[in-house]
Amino acid sequence: MKIDLTINGEREAVDVGGEEDLATVLRREGYTGVKCGCDGGVCGASKVLVGDEARMACGMSAEEADGHDITTIEGLGSQDDLHPIQQAFVDHFAVQCGFCIPGMILQAKSLLSDNPDPSEAEVRDAIDDNICRCTGYQKPVEAILDAAGRLRGEQAAVTDGGTPAASGCGGGSHE
Ligand code: FES
Repeated sequence: MKIDLTINGEREAVDVGGEEDLATVLRREGYTGVKCGCDGGVCGASKVLVGDEARMACGMSAEEADGHDITTIEGLGSQDDLHPIQQAFVDHFAVQCGFCIPGMILQAKSLLSDNPDPSEAEVRDAIDDNICRCTGYQKPVEAILDAAGRLRGEQAAVTDGGTPAASGCGGGSHE
C-alpha cells in the first residue's frame, strides 16, 4: 500500500507492507538516524516526532503514520547548524556511543515544546523510557535543562568543551 508522509517537511508517497513498522520504513527511506535498539518499542532509540509528540517508531505501524508530519533527527539540525538541544548535548559531553541520542534529543524537543521551563524531575520523567547503555543520565539531563534555558533566550550554562559560560561584559568568549 502507499501512504503519505511528510518527513522533515518533505511530503512523500511511500510504499509500505501491511505489517511494517514506521522505523523500518523510515530507515529504508534513508533516515538512518532512526535507531532500532530492541525492536520491541522498549528502548526509545527509535523515537521520532509525530507532530510534536515523541513516539517510538518501531512500535508504531507505518499505516498509523499515514498523513502525519514526521520529524527525524535529520530534520532537527545539520552538522554545520546544530539545533540548540543538539549543541547543548555536545557542550555537556552528553554523547558517548551516541546510539540513544537521536531518540533522546527528539524526546527533549517534545518536552520543551510542551514545557519550556521543566524541572529536573520533569526532564528525568520525560526521558525515563530512553534507555542509555553508556551514561548515568546526569549529562543528558544537564544538557536538556541548559537547552531549555537557551531556547528561552538565556545564556548557555556551558559552552563547547564544558567550559562554564563567562558572565558580565564581553562574556561568552573563551579564546
Ligand atoms: Fe551510548 Fe546512550 S550514549 S547508549
